[in-house]
Amino acid sequence: MTIKEYIATRKLEIKNYVEGLNVKPHLVIIQVNEDVASNAYVKGKLKDCNELGINGELIKLPIDTTEEKLLSLIDSLNNDDKVDAFIVQMPLPKQINEEKIKQAISPEKDVDGFHPLSELNPCTPQGIIDYLHAEEVKLQGLNALVIGRSNIVGKPMAKLLLKENCNVTIVHSKTSKEDMAFYIAHADIIVIAIGKQFFLDEKYQYKENAIIIDVGISRDENGLHGDAKPNLPVKLQTPVPGGVGLLTRLSLIENLIKIYNKKYNK
Ligand code: GUN
Repeated sequence: MTIKEYIATRKLEIKNYVEGLNVKPHLVIIQVNEDVASNAYVKGKLKDCNELGINGELIKLPIDTTEEKLLSLIDSLNNDDKVDAFIVQMPLPKQINEEKIKQAISPEKDVDGFHPLSELNPCTPQGIIDYLHAEEVKLQGLNALVIGRSNIVGKPMAKLLLKENCNVTIVHSKTSKEDMAFYIAHADIIVIAIGKQFFLDEKYQYKENAIIIDVGISRDENGLHGDAKPNLPVKLQTPVPGGVGLLTRLSLIENLIKIYNKKYNK
């Protein structure tokens, strides 16, 4: 099954489910940046909401918004019963402390799974695990390599792969070239999220049956590119665009439905 087929199937199921609900789920997206990737991402999320009958609302704030102002908006959304869940799109401008914002969102409404007490996982790693399950990949005992250690992807990804009983290694910008090549050559599954165009290419050796999950997105005059060069000699490689970005968007909707069902005891 391709990622597009998987997404289409799941979206149809969700659309039918939402059709049967009297009160539609209500998601608010707060955006405080002019980031090109964020714009595309937010547009995609609103399009998904629209397609699925979900009430999606964007609150766009100026780039010079103060931390105090954002915290006060978060407080009002936390206490607004009509809002089931919300996200604050990252990155945030320098004057705003990301960690403080993540912790201010009520865990019950934290559809991004960023709050330490949230029962949900961040959308990108969760979306990847859900897809691997749909593909019936047996994760137990696999050597999983996570390249990159960001709070949004690398760290939570490693945690979820560990929960699946993989042997997990995290490598990063301070890993030596030799060690990087060694870990890549021994990996059954590689999740890469560093934003370096075609970092993975033919100079590395891969296991024949390896799976590459490409989270990276970078842009040049030829368009969008992943962290892995297309068509590497492995069993499965997710494309960019049309890969992990779609899984992340689906996962946000899945998390929203989980929050909604818990709130209304479904
Ligand atoms: N920026 C990049 N990915 C994400 C995400 O999953 N959630 C939010 N809020 N911001 C992001």
